[in-house]
Amino acid sequence: MIKKIFLFLFSFIFIFNLENKADEGMWIPMLLKKYNIEDMKKKGFKLTAEDIYSVNQTCMKDAVMIFGGGCTGELISAEGLLITNHHCGYGQIQKHSSLKNDYLTDGFWAMSREEELANPNLTVTFLVRMEDFTERILKDIDDNLNEKERQEKIAYNIAFAEAEATEGTNYKAKVKSFFYGNEYYLFVSEVYKDVRLVGAPPSAIGKFGGDTDNWMWPRHTGDFSIFRIYADKYNKPAEYSAENVPYKPKKHFPISLKGVEKGDFTMVFGYPGTTEEYLTSFAIESKINTLNPSKINIRQKKIDIMLKAMDKDRKVRIQYSSKHAGTSNAWKKWIGEKRGLERLNAIEKKKKLEKEFSLWAKKQNIKIYSELLPRYEKIYEELTPYSLASDYFYEAGYSLDIIRFVTKFKSFKSVNKNTQEIEIKTKIFKLNSSIKSFFKDYNKETDKKIFTEILKIYYNNTKKNFRPEIFNMVDKKFKGDINKYADYFYKKSIFVDQNKLRKFLDKFKASKLKKLKKDPAYQMTESLIDFYVEKIAGKLSELELEVLKLNRFYLDGLRKMQKDKVFYPDANFTLRIAYGQVDDYFPYDGIRYKHFTTLKGIMEKDNPEIYDYDVPDKLKELYKNKNYGKYADKNGNMRVCFTASNHTTGGNSGSPVINGNGELIGVNFDRNWEGTMSDIMYDPDQCRNITLDIRYALFIIDKFAGASHLIKEMTLVE
Ligand code: ARG
Ligand code: ASP
Repeated sequence: MIKKIFLFLFSFIFIFNLENKADEGMWIPMLLKKYNIEDMKKKGFKLTAEDIYSVNQTCMKDAVMIFGGGCTGELISAEGLLITNHHCGYGQIQKHSSLKNDYLTDGFWAMSREEELANPNLTVTFLVRMEDFTERILKDIDDNLNEKERQEKIAYNIAFAEAEATEGTNYKAKVKSFFYGNEYYLFVSEVYKDVRLVGAPPSAIGKFGGDTDNWMWPRHTGDFSIFRIYADKYNKPAEYSAENVPYKPKKHFPISLKGVEKGDFTMVFGYPGTTEEYLTSFAIESKINTLNPSKINIRQKKIDIMLKAMDKDRKVRIQYSSKHAGTSNAWKKWIGEKRGLERLNAIEKKKKLEKEFSLWAKKQNIKIYSELLPRYEKIYEELTPYSLASDYFYEAGYSLDIIRFVTKFKSFKSVNKNTQEIEIKTKIFKLNSSIKSFFKDYNKETDKKIFTEILKIYYNNTKKNFRPEIFNMVDKKFKGDINKYADYFYKKSIFVDQNKLRKFLDKFKASKLKKLKKDPAYQMTESLIDFYVEKIAGKLSELELEVLKLNRFYLDGLRKMQKDKVFYPDANFTLRIAYGQVDDYFPYDGIRYKHFTTLKGIMEKDNPEIYDYDVPDKLKELYKNKNYGKYADKNGNMRVCFTASNHTTGGNSGSPVINGNGELIGVNFDRNWEGTMSDIMYDPDQCRNITLDIRYALFIIDKFAGASHLIKEMTLVE
């Protein structure tokens, strides 16, 4: 009896703890009322669930958008002004930059609407509404279907539902899978297509600390950029036109100048991309012991070469800055993630849960549940070599700049004797912009170096049957000497030299096809793709489909086993709420990291010799004179960034960080290195999101750039 009471108490405490296990989770806005709002209120949120998401009233969701293809942004004025990260607008800023107008280095500020810069292909996407479509999508799906049939049928149901949801409107609709296909939700959205660059600080502010500080705390990056959405005269989306007018939003965020202190409520409202919180121990093992180490190794090499070249030549710095940032970002995250998972004993923890599951499954006496774990084990044994081959294909082959460029010429594959000249001319014309943008950021020497060294890694680390045919040719013709092969490649190919390529294309006719097909770059690309399609893709997708099925049952089982726990779905680039509080942390024994940084820290890091830490003179002057205006904190300091316990991931960059009153207090841009494993396992002690204090952004706009006309558009709460 006593034992029973004890057990009862114990489980009560346990459940109670789970519910309060602070701050983990990325929640569905539509379900806040049901699952979260009480807890949020307890933690300091003062508004209602409807103020965040509603289809009946104007709410915060109307001010939050997908920025481009992978970030979040939010509206900060009644005239369509939006803020996102510098690293999210980086591609655009870089595209407008040249040696003459080097906006990356010097920053850019439109002093009037006329000076705002158009960005073809940049869009922002607002959510109009979401709906639970599980029943509709799964209505005629029965358990007797095999997995492939099941997925095909679901795809059909989804296509039908999406078409129906947008009939007669200009909206877009997407149905997405949640909980590995246990649930489905519909998202209807509106896409604006004329989005102009308004302002960006110099990289020495917007990317201060560069890739050295990336993923790290203490941090001092002024990671923001400003854009404006334009619409037609009816306030509706339109392609770029000089006639377009600033978009008049239903809602924009008021901006608080009051700042935050430790323990204050914060929430992040944005588009987290991918998390994998419900992975099994087998999947984690494969990832952190086999797959990620290989990818880390490949990228390490690329980064070393790029950095050397960038340090030597200013032009190369501009050309490779975006590529370098992209390559190094995931590389550094994977390193942090591996350490974090090891420190957390993630695999052991998962194994424990799996054991519990097995016992539970046995009791349930449901065959599929009890078979799950052995099936997982077997399938990961089979899957890992294919995933690895796929990673090598991608990281060490397909993603090489020159190869990706040549894939753009795939439409030439269908050319033959009978192809009309006009058709060929059209193909070439369509390639013009790709050719231009490739060579704008191409440095032959650097490209060749990367190509050579990465192919060596590919060659030396893969077995014959797991790499493309072309390596056999390298064996035969070059005795396996990659250096010699690369010399030949960069001497013979028409793709490595803009003039050569243009000349070739100018005179191209069907009869020249032979020459094209013999080109070393063309051959390499073809060989890579054939290899992937013929040897990897089929088996890989077959095995992944099987994993998907196991995951669906496993998660379904877990939710039944842990009845009292509210599960949140993995991130899938749909709008979510994460909430928590401003908080510091203890990264290592004896070290405490404060929850905010100030301008003083920027001066401490100042070092004109190191590119990442070269502080602009103007900023030093503002610091010296403490010229912070109304943007200082109550002690007269200029805060730069702060940390909080919100559960975020890639895609959350640029997300509004909001206080208990629904006011903007910052822009989310990163996480701490010790906490990057939060994509797989969240640890309340270590996982922190990093936010740019909005007051630092305003200070830079106002005092540093003198763009006070932008501040006047905003709604400040003092
Ligand atoms: N780590 C941040 C995120 O994942 C910022 C990346 C951009 N910054 C950089 N230095 N590469 O997106
Ligand atoms: N820096 C990430 C992003 O760009 C955010 C994160 O991973 O925490 O979305």
